[in-house]
Amino acid sequence: ERIEVNWNYCSDFIKNHELDAYQAKIHQIHEQIHEKTGLGNDALDWLELPLNYEQSIPVTKIKELAENIRSKADVFLVIGVGGSYIGARAAIEFLRPDNNSPEILYLGHHLSPRYINEVLASLEGRQVFVNVISKSGGTLEPSLAFRTIRSFMEERFGKDEARRRIIATTDGEKGKLKALADKEGYETLVIPDGIGGRYSVLTPVGLLPIAVSGVNIKDMLNGAQKAYEITSIPDLDKNPAYIYAALRHILLQKGKQTEILVTYDPFAGYLGEWWKQLFGESEGKDGKGIFPTRADFTTDLHSLGQYIQEGSRHLFATTVWWETEDDLVLPGLNYSRGEEGDNKSNHENDDGLTYLQGKSFHEINRQAFLGTVQAHNWGGVPNIVISLPEINSYYLGLLFYFFMKSCAASGYLLGVNPFNQPGVEAYKQNVLSRLEQI
Ligand code: PA5
Repeated sequence: ERIEVNWNYCSDFIKNHELDAYQAKIHQIHEQIHEKTGLGNDALDWLELPLNYEQSIPVTKIKELAENIRSKADVFLVIGVGGSYIGARAAIEFLRPDNNSPEILYLGHHLSPRYINEVLASLEGRQVFVNVISKSGGTLEPSLAFRTIRSFMEERFGKDEARRRIIATTDGEKGKLKALADKEGYETLVIPDGIGGRYSVLTPVGLLPIAVSGVNIKDMLNGAQKAYEITSIPDLDKNPAYIYAALRHILLQKGKQTEILVTYDPFAGYLGEWWKQLFGESEGKDGKGIFPTRADFTTDLHSLGQYIQEGSRHLFATTVWWETEDDLVLPGLNYSRGEEGDNKSNHENDDGLTYLQGKSFHEINRQAFLGTVQAHNWGGVPNIVISLPEINSYYLGLLFYFFMKSCAASGYLLGVNPFNQPGVEAYKQNVLSRLEQI
Protein backbone atom coordinates (compact mmCIF):
# COMPACT_ATOMS: atom_id res chain seq x y z
CA GLU A 1 0.00 0.00 0.00
CA ARG A 2 2.97 2.23 -0.42
CA ILE A 3 5.10 4.25 -2.72
CA GLU A 4 8.71 3.08 -2.84
CA VAL A 5 11.83 5.00 -3.76
CA ASN A 6 14.59 2.61 -4.79
CA TRP A 7 18.09 3.91 -5.38
CA ASN A 8 19.95 0.64 -6.04
CA TYR A 9 20.79 1.98 -9.47
CA CYS A 10 22.47 5.03 -7.94
CA SER A 11 24.88 3.06 -5.76
CA ASP A 12 27.88 3.74 -8.02
CA PHE A 13 27.22 7.44 -7.57
CA ILE A 14 25.85 7.81 -4.03
CA LYS A 15 27.10 6.06 -0.89
CA ASN A 16 24.96 5.37 2.18
CA HIS A 17 26.91 7.78 4.35
CA GLU A 18 26.31 10.60 1.85
CA LEU A 19 22.57 10.16 2.17
CA ASP A 20 22.79 9.77 5.97
CA ALA A 21 24.57 13.11 6.11
CA TYR A 22 21.33 14.80 4.99
CA GLN A 23 19.40 13.76 8.11
CA ALA A 24 20.01 16.94 10.10
CA LYS A 25 19.29 19.23 7.17
CA ILE A 26 16.10 17.31 6.37
CA HIS A 27 14.93 17.64 9.99
CA GLN A 28 15.36 21.38 9.73
CA ILE A 29 13.52 21.51 6.39
CA HIS A 30 10.72 19.36 7.76
CA GLU A 31 10.23 21.90 10.52
CA GLN A 32 10.31 24.81 8.08
CA ILE A 33 7.63 23.16 5.95
CA HIS A 34 5.35 21.96 8.72
CA GLU A 35 5.72 25.01 10.94
CA LYS A 36 5.53 27.26 7.90
CA THR A 37 8.64 29.24 8.71
CA GLY A 38 10.54 28.82 5.41
CA LEU A 39 10.61 30.83 2.18
CA GLY A 40 7.21 31.35 0.58
CA ASN A 41 5.40 30.07 3.69
CA ASP A 42 2.17 31.85 2.73
CA ALA A 43 1.80 29.35 -0.15
CA LEU A 44 1.75 26.16 1.90
CA ASP A 45 -1.99 25.61 2.23
CA TRP A 46 -1.75 22.53 0.00
CA LEU A 47 0.23 20.82 2.76
CA GLU A 48 -2.61 19.88 5.11
CA LEU A 49 -5.33 20.06 2.48
CA PRO A 50 -5.84 16.28 2.15
CA LEU A 51 -6.13 15.82 5.93
CA ASN A 52 -9.64 17.19 6.31
CA TYR A 53 -10.48 17.63 2.68
CA GLU A 54 -14.22 17.47 3.30
CA GLN A 55 -13.84 20.79 5.12
CA SER A 56 -11.51 22.57 2.72
CA ILE A 57 -12.75 21.27 -0.65
CA PRO A 58 -16.39 21.52 -1.83
CA VAL A 59 -16.36 17.84 -2.85
CA THR A 60 -20.15 17.49 -2.97
CA LYS A 61 -20.61 20.60 -5.10
CA ILE A 62 -17.86 19.47 -7.50
CA LYS A 63 -19.45 16.04 -7.83
CA GLU A 64 -22.89 17.53 -8.49
CA LEU A 65 -21.54 19.91 -11.12
CA ALA A 66 -19.64 17.04 -12.72
CA GLU A 67 -22.74 14.80 -12.79
CA ASN A 68 -24.78 17.56 -14.41
CA ILE A 69 -22.12 18.09 -17.07
CA ARG A 70 -21.75 14.35 -17.67
CA SER A 71 -25.48 13.99 -18.21
CA LYS A 72 -25.80 16.91 -20.63
CA ALA A 73 -22.51 17.59 -22.41
CA ASP A 74 -21.02 16.11 -25.54
CA VAL A 75 -17.94 18.25 -25.11
CA PHE A 76 -16.39 19.68 -21.97
CA LEU A 77 -13.90 22.48 -22.60
CA VAL A 78 -11.19 23.09 -20.03
CA ILE A 79 -9.64 26.55 -20.45
CA GLY A 80 -6.45 27.23 -18.51
CA VAL A 81 -2.67 27.21 -18.69
CA GLY A 82 0.22 25.97 -16.53
CA GLY A 83 -0.87 24.92 -13.07
CA SER A 84 -4.45 25.77 -13.99
CA TYR A 85 -4.68 22.92 -16.47
CA ILE A 86 -1.77 20.46 -16.59
CA GLY A 87 -2.73 18.54 -13.45
CA ALA A 88 -6.26 17.87 -14.67
CA ARG A 89 -5.01 16.82 -18.07
CA ALA A 90 -2.36 14.58 -16.48
CA ALA A 91 -4.96 12.74 -14.41
CA ILE A 92 -7.56 12.47 -17.16
CA GLU A 93 -5.16 11.23 -19.82
CA PHE A 94 -3.48 8.80 -17.43
CA LEU A 95 -6.61 7.32 -15.83
CA ARG A 96 -8.65 7.51 -19.09
CA PRO A 97 -12.17 9.00 -19.26
CA ASP A 98 -14.94 6.44 -18.71
CA ASN A 99 -17.71 5.62 -21.20
CA ASN A 100 -20.08 8.27 -19.83
CA SER A 101 -17.59 11.09 -20.06
CA PRO A 102 -18.09 13.89 -22.56
CA GLU A 103 -15.14 14.45 -24.84
CA ILE A 104 -12.73 16.66 -22.91
CA LEU A 105 -10.90 19.32 -24.92
CA TYR A 106 -8.32 21.85 -23.76
CA LEU A 107 -7.94 25.50 -24.72
CA GLY A 108 -6.06 28.50 -23.41
CA HIS A 109 -2.68 26.80 -23.09
CA HIS A 110 -1.19 28.49 -26.17
CA LEU A 111 -2.03 30.99 -28.90
CA SER A 112 -2.08 28.79 -32.00
CA PRO A 113 -5.00 29.76 -34.30
CA ARG A 114 -4.75 26.42 -36.12
CA TYR A 115 -5.53 24.56 -32.89
CA ILE A 116 -8.24 26.99 -31.75
CA ASN A 117 -9.94 26.73 -35.15
CA GLU A 118 -9.95 22.98 -34.93
CA VAL A 119 -11.51 23.03 -31.46
CA LEU A 120 -14.16 25.53 -32.59
CA ALA A 121 -14.98 23.37 -35.59
CA SER A 122 -15.38 20.31 -33.39
CA LEU A 123 -17.98 22.09 -31.22
CA GLU A 124 -20.44 22.51 -34.08
CA GLY A 125 -23.77 20.81 -33.43
CA ARG A 126 -22.69 19.48 -30.04
CA GLN A 127 -23.69 20.22 -26.44
CA VAL A 128 -20.84 22.21 -24.92
CA PHE A 129 -19.96 23.03 -21.29
CA VAL A 130 -17.00 25.16 -20.29
CA ASN A 131 -14.73 25.38 -17.25
CA VAL A 132 -12.48 28.44 -17.35
CA ILE A 133 -9.72 28.21 -14.75
CA SER A 134 -7.38 31.04 -13.75
CA LYS A 135 -6.23 32.03 -10.30
CA SER A 136 -5.12 35.53 -11.29
CA GLY A 137 -8.04 35.82 -13.67
CA GLY A 138 -5.96 37.74 -16.17
CA THR A 139 -3.49 35.35 -17.83
CA LEU A 140 -3.17 36.13 -21.52
CA GLU A 141 -3.67 32.72 -23.15
CA PRO A 142 -6.77 31.56 -21.22
CA SER A 143 -8.28 35.06 -21.29
CA LEU A 144 -8.05 35.18 -25.09
CA ALA A 145 -9.38 31.64 -25.42
CA PHE A 146 -12.27 32.38 -23.06
CA ARG A 147 -13.22 35.54 -24.94
CA THR A 148 -13.32 33.45 -28.13
CA ILE A 149 -15.42 30.74 -26.48
CA ARG A 150 -17.79 33.20 -24.78
CA SER A 151 -18.51 34.70 -28.16
CA PHE A 152 -19.12 31.21 -29.59
CA MET A 153 -21.32 30.13 -26.66
CA GLU A 154 -23.43 33.28 -26.63
CA GLU A 155 -24.02 33.11 -30.35
CA ARG A 156 -24.74 29.43 -30.30
CA PHE A 157 -26.87 29.05 -27.15
CA GLY A 158 -27.97 32.63 -26.43
CA LYS A 159 -26.65 34.68 -23.52
CA ASP A 160 -28.79 33.10 -20.78
CA GLU A 161 -28.15 29.51 -21.70
CA ALA A 162 -24.43 30.22 -22.29
CA ARG A 163 -24.23 31.51 -18.71
CA ARG A 164 -25.63 28.25 -17.38
CA ARG A 165 -22.97 26.28 -19.23
CA ILE A 166 -19.92 28.15 -17.97
CA ILE A 167 -18.16 27.47 -14.67
CA ALA A 168 -15.35 29.75 -13.53
CA THR A 169 -12.67 28.41 -11.19
CA THR A 170 -10.81 31.41 -9.80
CA ASP A 171 -9.85 33.46 -6.75
CA GLY A 172 -12.61 34.02 -4.16
CA GLU A 173 -12.33 37.78 -4.35
CA LYS A 174 -9.80 39.21 -6.76
CA GLY A 175 -9.24 39.35 -10.50
CA LYS A 176 -11.02 40.08 -13.77
CA LEU A 177 -12.44 36.58 -14.09
CA LYS A 178 -14.03 36.78 -10.63
CA ALA A 179 -15.58 40.15 -11.49
CA LEU A 180 -16.85 38.81 -14.82
CA ALA A 181 -18.27 35.67 -13.20
CA ASP A 182 -20.13 37.79 -10.64
CA LYS A 183 -21.48 40.08 -13.34
CA GLU A 184 -22.59 37.25 -15.62
CA GLY A 185 -23.77 34.98 -12.80
CA TYR A 186 -21.53 32.03 -13.71
CA GLU A 187 -21.26 29.16 -11.29
CA THR A 188 -17.90 29.56 -9.52
CA LEU A 189 -15.41 27.38 -7.70
CA VAL A 190 -12.85 29.03 -5.47
CA ILE A 191 -9.10 28.43 -5.63
CA PRO A 192 -7.87 28.59 -2.03
CA ASP A 193 -5.61 31.55 -1.32
CA GLY A 194 -2.42 29.91 -0.12
CA ILE A 195 -2.08 27.42 -2.99
CA GLY A 196 -0.10 28.26 -6.13
CA GLY A 197 -0.99 26.94 -9.58
CA ARG A 198 1.40 24.01 -9.74
CA TYR A 199 0.36 22.83 -6.26
CA SER A 200 -3.36 23.04 -7.07
CA VAL A 201 -4.28 19.78 -8.80
CA LEU A 202 -6.06 18.49 -5.69
CA THR A 203 -8.21 21.64 -5.39
CA PRO A 204 -11.27 22.54 -7.55
CA VAL A 205 -8.74 23.52 -10.27
CA GLY A 206 -8.02 19.88 -11.03
CA LEU A 207 -10.93 18.16 -9.34
CA LEU A 208 -13.85 19.39 -11.47
CA PRO A 209 -12.39 18.33 -14.84
CA ILE A 210 -11.12 15.10 -13.28
CA ALA A 211 -14.60 14.35 -11.86
CA VAL A 212 -16.19 15.07 -15.26
CA SER A 213 -13.96 12.37 -16.76
CA GLY A 214 -15.54 9.86 -14.36
CA VAL A 215 -12.74 9.53 -11.81
CA ASN A 216 -13.75 9.09 -8.18
CA ILE A 217 -12.16 12.23 -6.74
CA LYS A 218 -12.63 11.01 -3.18
CA ASP A 219 -10.38 8.05 -3.94
CA MET A 220 -7.83 10.49 -5.29
CA LEU A 221 -8.04 12.68 -2.19
CA ASN A 222 -7.81 9.58 0.02
CA GLY A 223 -4.61 8.65 -1.80
CA ALA A 224 -3.27 12.14 -1.14
CA GLN A 225 -4.28 11.76 2.50
CA LYS A 226 -2.21 8.57 2.70
CA ALA A 227 0.68 10.44 1.10
CA TYR A 228 0.36 13.18 3.71
CA GLU A 229 0.72 10.51 6.40
CA ILE A 230 3.70 8.80 4.75
CA THR A 231 5.53 12.05 3.99
CA SER A 232 4.96 13.75 7.35
CA ILE A 233 7.62 11.69 9.11
CA PRO A 234 10.68 13.85 9.83
CA ASP A 235 13.16 10.95 9.57
CA LEU A 236 14.85 10.85 6.22
CA ASP A 237 15.14 7.07 6.03
CA LYS A 238 11.40 6.61 6.69
CA ASN A 239 10.11 9.33 4.41
CA PRO A 240 10.16 8.55 0.65
CA ALA A 241 9.54 12.20 -0.33
CA TYR A 242 12.62 13.34 1.58
CA ILE A 243 14.72 10.43 0.25
CA TYR A 244 13.83 11.46 -3.31
CA ALA A 245 14.63 15.12 -2.55
CA ALA A 246 17.99 14.27 -0.94
CA LEU A 247 19.02 11.87 -3.74
CA ARG A 248 18.30 14.53 -6.36
CA HIS A 249 20.28 17.08 -4.42
CA ILE A 250 23.30 14.77 -4.04
CA LEU A 251 23.23 14.00 -7.76
CA LEU A 252 23.08 17.71 -8.58
CA GLN A 253 26.12 18.35 -6.38
CA LYS A 254 27.89 15.69 -8.47
CA GLY A 255 27.20 17.52 -11.71
CA LYS A 256 24.00 15.72 -12.73
CA GLN A 257 22.13 18.84 -13.77
CA THR A 258 19.39 17.22 -15.87
CA GLU A 259 16.73 14.85 -14.59
CA ILE A 260 14.67 12.78 -17.01
CA LEU A 261 11.34 11.54 -15.70
CA VAL A 262 10.80 8.21 -17.43
CA THR A 263 7.52 6.36 -17.80
CA TYR A 264 6.71 3.25 -19.81
CA ASP A 265 3.16 4.24 -20.71
CA PRO A 266 2.18 6.75 -23.39
CA PHE A 267 -0.84 7.76 -21.31
CA ALA A 268 1.57 9.13 -18.69
CA GLY A 269 2.87 11.91 -20.99
CA TYR A 270 0.97 14.72 -19.29
CA LEU A 271 1.86 13.36 -15.89
CA GLY A 272 5.44 13.96 -17.00
CA GLU A 273 4.46 17.47 -18.12
CA TRP A 274 2.90 18.15 -14.72
CA TRP A 275 6.05 16.93 -12.94
CA LYS A 276 8.21 19.05 -15.30
CA GLN A 277 6.26 22.18 -14.45
CA LEU A 278 6.23 21.43 -10.72
CA PHE A 279 9.98 20.96 -10.41
CA GLY A 280 11.07 23.35 -13.17
CA GLU A 281 9.07 26.33 -11.95
CA SER A 282 9.74 25.59 -8.29
CA GLU A 283 13.51 25.08 -8.45
CA GLY A 284 14.79 26.99 -11.47
CA LYS A 285 15.69 30.37 -9.99
CA ASP A 286 18.61 32.31 -8.53
CA GLY A 287 20.88 30.62 -11.08
CA LYS A 288 20.13 27.20 -9.55
CA GLY A 289 18.08 24.08 -10.16
CA ILE A 290 18.00 20.73 -11.94
CA PHE A 291 16.65 20.96 -15.50
CA PRO A 292 13.63 18.62 -15.61
CA THR A 293 12.72 16.82 -18.78
CA ARG A 294 10.81 13.65 -19.56
CA ALA A 295 10.96 10.60 -21.76
CA ASP A 296 8.40 8.05 -22.80
CA PHE A 297 9.92 4.55 -23.00
CA THR A 298 10.29 2.32 -24.82
CA THR A 299 9.35 4.82 -27.58
CA ASP A 300 12.15 7.28 -26.81
CA LEU A 301 14.73 4.52 -26.46
CA HIS A 302 14.67 4.67 -30.25
CA SER A 303 15.57 8.37 -30.18
CA LEU A 304 16.92 9.81 -26.90
CA GLY A 305 18.15 6.38 -25.84
CA GLN A 306 21.41 6.87 -27.74
CA TYR A 307 22.17 10.13 -25.91
CA ILE A 308 21.22 8.71 -22.55
CA GLN A 309 23.51 5.71 -23.01
CA GLU A 310 26.55 7.48 -24.46
CA GLY A 311 26.14 11.28 -24.61
CA SER A 312 27.30 14.00 -22.18
CA ARG A 313 27.18 12.68 -18.62
CA HIS A 314 25.09 15.42 -17.00
CA LEU A 315 21.99 13.23 -16.68
CA PHE A 316 20.15 11.17 -14.16
CA ALA A 317 16.80 9.48 -14.61
CA THR A 318 13.82 8.89 -12.36
CA THR A 319 11.55 6.11 -13.51
CA VAL A 320 7.97 5.90 -12.26
CA TRP A 321 6.77 2.33 -12.43
CA TRP A 322 3.35 0.82 -11.66
CA GLU A 323 3.48 -2.80 -10.49
CA THR A 324 0.13 -3.81 -12.02
CA GLU A 325 -2.17 -2.59 -14.77
CA ASP A 326 -4.76 -3.88 -17.25
CA ASP A 327 -2.76 -6.51 -19.01
CA LEU A 328 -2.71 -8.29 -22.35
CA VAL A 329 -1.25 -11.66 -23.28
CA LEU A 330 0.82 -12.10 -26.43
CA PRO A 331 -1.31 -14.36 -28.65
CA GLY A 332 -0.23 -17.40 -30.63
CA LEU A 333 -0.64 -17.55 -34.42
CA ASN A 334 -3.09 -20.01 -35.89
CA TYR A 335 -1.80 -22.49 -38.43
CA SER A 336 -4.04 -22.56 -41.48
CA ARG A 337 -4.40 -26.10 -42.91
CA GLY A 338 -5.45 -24.70 -46.25
CA GLU A 339 -1.99 -23.44 -47.03
CA GLU A 340 -0.33 -26.07 -49.20
CA GLY A 341 3.16 -27.01 -48.17
CA ASP A 342 3.13 -24.72 -45.20
CA ASN A 343 5.33 -25.80 -42.38
CA LYS A 344 3.49 -25.44 -39.11
CA SER A 345 6.39 -24.72 -36.80
CA ASN A 346 8.00 -22.26 -39.21
CA HIS A 347 4.74 -20.45 -39.86
CA GLU A 348 4.01 -20.03 -36.19
CA ASN A 349 7.46 -18.74 -35.48
CA ASP A 350 8.10 -16.66 -38.57
CA ASP A 351 8.73 -13.55 -36.42
CA GLY A 352 10.95 -15.55 -34.04
CA LEU A 353 8.82 -14.54 -31.06
CA THR A 354 6.96 -17.75 -30.25
CA TYR A 355 9.04 -18.08 -27.07
CA LEU A 356 7.08 -15.11 -25.71
CA GLN A 357 3.67 -16.52 -26.65
CA GLY A 358 1.33 -16.49 -23.65
CA LYS A 359 3.50 -13.97 -21.79
CA SER A 360 1.99 -10.76 -20.49
CA PHE A 361 2.80 -7.41 -22.09
CA HIS A 362 3.20 -5.92 -18.62
CA GLU A 363 5.91 -8.44 -17.88
CA ILE A 364 7.60 -7.78 -21.23
CA ASN A 365 7.43 -4.02 -20.49
CA ARG A 366 8.83 -4.68 -16.99
CA GLN A 367 11.80 -6.54 -18.42
CA ALA A 368 12.34 -3.63 -20.82
CA PHE A 369 12.31 -1.26 -17.82
CA LEU A 370 14.72 -3.39 -15.76
CA GLY A 371 17.05 -4.00 -18.68
CA THR A 372 17.09 -0.31 -19.59
CA VAL A 373 17.71 0.98 -16.07
CA GLN A 374 20.65 -1.40 -15.76
CA ALA A 375 22.14 -0.58 -19.18
CA HIS A 376 21.83 3.18 -18.60
CA ASN A 377 23.43 2.75 -15.21
CA TRP A 378 26.40 0.96 -16.85
CA GLY A 379 26.56 3.93 -19.22
CA GLY A 380 27.00 6.33 -16.29
CA VAL A 381 23.41 7.46 -15.71
CA PRO A 382 22.16 7.04 -12.13
CA ASN A 383 18.55 5.91 -11.88
CA ILE A 384 16.04 6.46 -9.12
CA VAL A 385 13.01 4.16 -9.33
CA ILE A 386 9.68 5.20 -7.83
CA SER A 387 7.16 2.38 -7.77
CA LEU A 388 3.47 2.21 -6.97
CA PRO A 389 1.25 -0.85 -6.56
CA GLU A 390 -1.28 -0.11 -9.30
CA ILE A 391 -2.72 2.37 -11.77
CA ASN A 392 -5.78 3.96 -10.17
CA SER A 393 -7.03 7.27 -8.83
CA TYR A 394 -5.93 6.50 -5.25
CA TYR A 395 -2.31 5.98 -6.21
CA LEU A 396 -2.34 8.91 -8.60
CA GLY A 397 -3.52 11.18 -5.75
CA LEU A 398 -0.78 9.68 -3.61
CA LEU A 399 1.84 10.31 -6.32
CA PHE A 400 0.73 13.90 -6.94
CA TYR A 401 1.06 14.72 -3.25
CA PHE A 402 4.33 12.81 -2.90
CA PHE A 403 5.92 14.90 -5.68
CA MET A 404 4.59 18.19 -4.26
CA LYS A 405 6.03 17.43 -0.82
CA SER A 406 9.30 16.30 -2.34
CA CYS A 407 9.48 19.42 -4.47
CA ALA A 408 9.00 21.70 -1.48
CA ALA A 409 11.85 19.91 0.34
CA SER A 410 14.00 19.99 -2.82
CA GLY A 411 13.54 23.75 -3.16
CA TYR A 412 14.51 24.31 0.47
CA LEU A 413 17.59 22.07 0.03
CA LEU A 414 18.63 24.34 -2.84
CA GLY A 415 17.90 27.45 -0.79
CA VAL A 416 15.22 28.80 -3.13
CA ASN A 417 11.55 29.68 -2.65
CA PRO A 418 9.75 26.71 -4.28
CA PHE A 419 6.42 28.54 -4.42
CA ASN A 420 7.08 31.65 -6.49
CA GLN A 421 7.89 32.19 -10.18
CA PRO A 422 9.34 35.68 -10.55
CA GLY A 423 11.12 34.64 -13.74
CA VAL A 424 7.95 34.29 -15.80
CA GLU A 425 7.29 38.04 -15.56
CA ALA A 426 10.10 39.08 -17.91
CA TYR A 427 8.68 37.41 -21.00
CA LYS A 428 5.09 38.31 -20.05
CA GLN A 429 5.83 42.04 -19.82
CA ASN A 430 7.77 41.95 -23.04
CA VAL A 431 5.01 40.15 -24.94
CA LEU A 432 2.33 42.47 -23.54
CA SER A 433 4.22 45.61 -24.53
CA ARG A 434 4.56 44.25 -28.07
CA LEU A 435 0.86 43.38 -28.21
CA GLU A 436 -0.06 46.93 -27.31
CA GLN A 437 1.64 48.04 -30.51
CA ILE A 438 0.02 45.72 -33.05
O1 PA5 B 1 2.17 27.38 -11.30
C1 PA5 B 1 1.81 28.52 -11.59
O2 PA5 B 1 1.62 29.37 -10.72
C2 PA5 B 1 1.55 28.92 -13.01
O3 PA5 B 1 1.87 27.90 -13.91
C3 PA5 B 1 0.09 29.30 -13.21
O4 PA5 B 1 -0.71 28.21 -12.86
C4 PA5 B 1 -0.19 29.70 -14.65
O5 PA5 B 1 0.63 30.76 -15.03
C5 PA5 B 1 -1.66 30.11 -14.81
O6 PA5 B 1 -1.98 31.17 -13.97
P1 PA5 B 1 -3.47 31.58 -13.68
O7 PA5 B 1 -4.14 30.46 -12.99
O8 PA5 B 1 -3.35 32.80 -12.82
O9 PA5 B 1 -4.10 31.88 -15.01
